[in-house]
Amino acid sequence: MAETIVVTGGTGLIGIPLCRLLIEAGHNVRCLTRSGKPHPVAGVQTFRWNVEEGQIDDAALHEATVVVHLAGENIAGGRWTPARKAQILSSRTDAAHLLKAAIGRVSAPVHTVVGASAIGFYNLSKRQVDEGGKAGADFPAEVCIAWEQATQALAEGRRLVIFRIGNVLSRAGGVFQRLAQPFSFGLGAWLGSGLQPISWIHVRDMAGLIAFAIGRPSMEGVYNGVANEPVNLKFLVKQMGRYLHKPVMPIGVPGFVLELAFGEMAQIVLTGNTVISTRLQGTGYKFRYPHLYDALAELTRKKKGS
Ligand SMILES: NC(=O)c1ccc[n+]([C@@H]2O[C@H](COP(=O)([O-])OP(=O)(O)OC[C@H]3O[C@@H](n4cnc5c(N)ncnc54)[C@H](OP(=O)(O)O)[C@@H]3O)[C@@H](O)[C@H]2O)c1
Repeated sequence: MAETIVVTGGTGLIGIPLCRLLIEAGHNVRCLTRSGKPHPVAGVQTFRWNVEEGQIDDAALHEATVVVHLAGENIAGGRWTPARKAQILSSRTDAAHLLKAAIGRVSAPVHTVVGASAIGFYNLSKRQVDEGGKAGADFPAEVCIAWEQATQALAEGRRLVIFRIGNVLSRAGGVFQRLAQPFSFGLGAWLGSGLQPISWIHVRDMAGLIAFAIGRPSMEGVYNGVANEPVNLKFLVKQMGRYLHKPVMPIGVPGFVLELAFGEMAQIVLTGNTVISTRLQGTGYKFRYPHLYDALAELTRKKKGS
């Protein structure tokens, strides 16, 4: 059945492939964006909002049946000053409150809410965790907890699916693109000890999972958005070197250099969680890239003309 789906953050790394999948599946897709520019995917309507100023075009929610809330200030976009920390948090939670108010004003028949969160939710530990893992107490965990609570309030009794998203591998941004940059200068490198876990997912699977969840009324609650094959950073970089046919530096960039450069934010690259998903296994979702070698083969394949 064709749904009318409102996507926040629909211009982002996950949002663009998600919108493409939803359009291909025949849904009406609307994207709430700060810019008002036409969407890169043909057929997606754009509507403006400004979370900081509490403004939203209510027309975006008119007759909407599904809301996907992905928007949020990039957590790795700069030093975690108190002002940036506040923006990282409020761009997610205030956005959810804004959506809820707009749904109420237009009496939108929303039956499903899909929200993003992150594996930063979990307590940092060497042990592998699944959806039952305990929440952490650091800044990323604090953001994830408040974000999930705001999304629960937005859903207000409707079907709610929350994805705690892992390290999304994509050519267009995120951890893969950052690690690929030094290779383009001839030599790859890992950061810190290299032993920090990377619980990854290919971007097409992350978008695919969200689209799949929309069409599966049996899916409800929290799911970890990860392929069930966590690795460590050194292994990932070495495998990237193999696929790119480029050498890798035998030692990592020291952690203290990153701490000097990025302050507390260096934590994002110097620590990590070993996360798997138990709950996804019963859903019937079939990963396109279940193994790292499938994902890297796709991500490092030369595109025609490049
Ligand atoms: N990529 C990952 O590895 C990863 C891992 C864990 C969790 N996540 C979470 O999943 C969500 C989607 O990830 P992504 O990688 O697709 O994110 P992304 O590429 O950074 O895109 C996020 C989108 O949010 C909107 N946005 C950014 N700052 C905003 C602000 N201050 N107020 C309102 N909207 C704002 C932007 O849309 P407009 O410019 O159109 O307004 C942007 O396209 C994010 O919330 C992210 O934190 C991602």
